[in-house]
Amino acid sequence: MCIKMKWLLVLALFVAVWAQEESEEEGLTLAEPCDAESCQLPDCRCSSTNIPGGLAARDVPQFVLVTFDDGVNVININTYRNDLYNRLNTNGCPAGTTFFINHEYTDYQIVNELYNRGYEIALHSLSHQTPQTYWAEATYDDMKLEFGDQRIQMSHFANIPYDEIKGIRIPFLQMTGNASFQVMKDFGLTYDCTWPTINQLDPGLWPYTLDYESTQECTVPPCPTASIPGVWTLPMVSWLDLNGAACAMVDSCFAVPPLNDEDAWFNFIVTNFERHYLGNRSPFGFYVHEWYVAERINPAVNRAFVRFLDMINNMQDVFMVNAADVIDWVKDPVPVDEYKQKPCKNIQQTTCPAANCGPLTSDHNIWSSYYMSICNVCPSSYPWLGNPLGQ
Ligand SMILES: *[C@@H]1O[C@H](CO)[C@@H](O)[C@H](O)[C@H]1NC(C)=O
Ligand SMILES: [Zn+2]
Repeated sequence: MCIKMKWLLVLALFVAVWAQEESEEEGLTLAEPCDAESCQLPDCRCSSTNIPGGLAARDVPQFVLVTFDDGVNVININTYRNDLYNRLNTNGCPAGTTFFINHEYTDYQIVNELYNRGYEIALHSLSHQTPQTYWAEATYDDMKLEFGDQRIQMSHFANIPYDEIKGIRIPFLQMTGNASFQVMKDFGLTYDCTWPTINQLDPGLWPYTLDYESTQECTVPPCPTASIPGVWTLPMVSWLDLNGAACAMVDSCFAVPPLNDEDAWFNFIVTNFERHYLGNRSPFGFYVHEWYVAERINPAVNRAFVRFLDMINNMQDVFMVNAADVIDWVKDPVPVDEYKQKPCKNIQQTTCPAANCGPLTSDHNIWSSYYMSICNVCPSSYPWLGNPLGQ
């Protein structure tokens, strides 16, 4: 064979491989209505308000998911230390909380501390940029830089195991169609907790996979319509405010009790909790930004929040856990009596080789000098999209 032909062959092979990779990204098929026969736990679940495993509601552990969004730093850590640390559920296991963290203004030494206390570190994008339409229009490649890269970044700077980072929440609860879920699948992330539901809040929608068509209404379009097997959606089942209007985040509820009325706030929280506890026991979310329940800003709301946590930490069938733990239970739904006998999960402890870095220059914001507290060696520039480790 002449040299020219060899090169042509190599080129043809290269094009073929490249074309195949392209089609993996774009070769999506429209999801079909869920077929309960072929969609079975642990890896597939139809979207529904049915209790996993066909359990009776009284046999279901009521999970409570407290989540906080955005940067973790010296401004908000005291709330977490004061209100969350040293809490136990009645099975003797530490109470969980999930942090959806974005990169900017995050103190990675504090992230390391939260991780070592057993809290879940999850992703809330690298840039968290405005406007919201950026997210609505984000492509697969955008979401790869925002979440695929952020997982590497978080693991690197907070020195926590890559595999312990499992969940995402997109900024502004703005869905990005199929894109975010495709990235999750390709990068091995387990669940998304971005998608609010209003139509299925009583009884509440349980977590489900995207193998088949979702029955969840699209509150913040575009929503995924492709079949993306094995990726979990943890729906944000909305609260109802005092006028009966739905709200996905507690701090987005409109008609709320006076912010200085602790008792009214406690009752407001309990009323929303009981819709789950006395209903189908779908996970109850307390989704909020730290400032709203901070003692320094809303002391009465803070006291009501702590009272609520004290209450549930004393109930025999209620468990405050990390969001990822809920997905684990749904995959293997055991009755509450059996659940209570399980040993507490082991936390793979890590150290923090602390470094305080800066001032660091940044291409995305030439007017700022950035400082970073990390558990690694200092980067040479401020990490950003396309350069998540600041190399
Ligand atoms: C998601 O994928 C499906 C199937 O290919 C397609 O019909 C739909 O338009 C896609 N959605 C978006 C928002 O791109
Ligand atoms: Zn946010």
